[in-house]
Amino acid sequence: MLSSKTDANYRKRWGYSFQWTDKHLAPEEIAALRSHYDELGSTALEKLQAIIARTKTDSKREVNCPFRPELYTVFKKHHHEDEVLQQFWDEVHSVPEWVDWEQIERAQKFFARYALANSTAFALQGFIRENSASPGIAEVFARTGGFSIKNLLSRVIETFTWVVQVTTSLESIQPGGEGHTSTIRVRLLHASVRQRILKLAASRPEYFPVEKYGAPVNDLDSMHAIVLFCCMPMWDSFPKMGIFPSKQEITDFIALFRYISYITGTPNEYFETPEKAKAVMETMFLYELEPNKTSKILAHNFIAWLEDQPPPYLSRDFMEAGCRWMNGHEMCDALGLGRPGLYYYAVFAGHNVIVSTMAMCQKLIPALDQFIIKIMLISLEVRGRSPSNS
Ligand code: HEM
Repeated sequence: MLSSKTDANYRKRWGYSFQWTDKHLAPEEIAALRSHYDELGSTALEKLQAIIARTKTDSKREVNCPFRPELYTVFKKHHHEDEVLQQFWDEVHSVPEWVDWEQIERAQKFFARYALANSTAFALQGFIRENSASPGIAEVFARTGGFSIKNLLSRVIETFTWVVQVTTSLESIQPGGEGHTSTIRVRLLHASVRQRILKLAASRPEYFPVEKYGAPVNDLDSMHAIVLFCCMPMWDSFPKMGIFPSKQEITDFIALFRYISYITGTPNEYFETPEKAKAVMETMFLYELEPNKTSKILAHNFIAWLEDQPPPYLSRDFMEAGCRWMNGHEMCDALGLGRPGLYYYAVFAGHNVIVSTMAMCQKLIPALDQFIIKIMLISLEVRGRSPSNS
């Protein structure tokens, strides 16, 4: 139940109001999470780099090889040669006792069931608000090519491909499956992003202010990213589109992302229950969304990239209306987005009527629900089959 505005626990930020509880994160806890990162992943990366360097010098044939060896392939082949690598391998391949495969399988259907609404939420809230308006995360994206529209395209496609891989089938997310190995690749990729930025920041502190933002892709940032994937749809973006996930859907989807937190080396205990996860999301609203100059450039680039792209050919006005609907005027003004005419809000409302009516019909007619999930899984599976994994 929401408290009244006069209640000492009432909080409101960016148009979202909630009641502060003991499950929300206090500033000291936020600071502690910001100062930690996935050390095992980072050390494992260094070990893999050492193996790659050694293999190159050992094998004369490979000295002039223009291709860089793929980290996961090296990891799979050499993990038993080093204690840290073995520990890392064992960790990502062991399944915590709280993982319930039946629940994970149910959760995976959530993405396909609401594929259009999920994609809208991912684009308009995930990329434009969460990634652009969180200064530490935005800074990492800016330092890794976020100012280039070309890089944005590959980043969005890769992230979408990954989401499809982790939701396509149970085997895919289980140890050894395509989604599972992709997630380990993502963890190593984050470790290398962190390493690259920290190296440059060591000689040029102004390149990335570690004392202000913490290390790149620190625990707090990673939890924020998990929130973006699994909490925003449940309590923010979907309700704004007229879709209200059931308690079971919420519990299952959070459980799937708790397991993904585990594989990515993100503190997973915060996603133990929907209540805890929701409190993390609300804490992020309160403390982590502070749009700045970099946020404006990233948000602008994202819209510029999406504008008039095939196949949907979305206009800038339509996307700005969608952003304002999903994120509110206060946030969109802070991100420097335009204010389109009423007509475009009406078109976005039409989109919402379609997705929410479909969701309602799927709830009422289980056969239709199964059909939509099947069709979506087939088409998403085709899209998710990236050349590197085929
Ligand atoms: C733990 C939750 C996260 C998940 C599940 C996730 C997922 C992904 C995925 C799927 C990719 C694309 C991988 C590929 O190229 O195949 C990616 C890349 C990337 N992620 Fe994350 N991410 C998370 C957290 C973060 C955070 C918190 C940051 C920044 C602070 C971040 C920064 C990046 C960057 C910079 C890249 C692109 C690296 C490059 O292409 O050089 N990620 N992430």
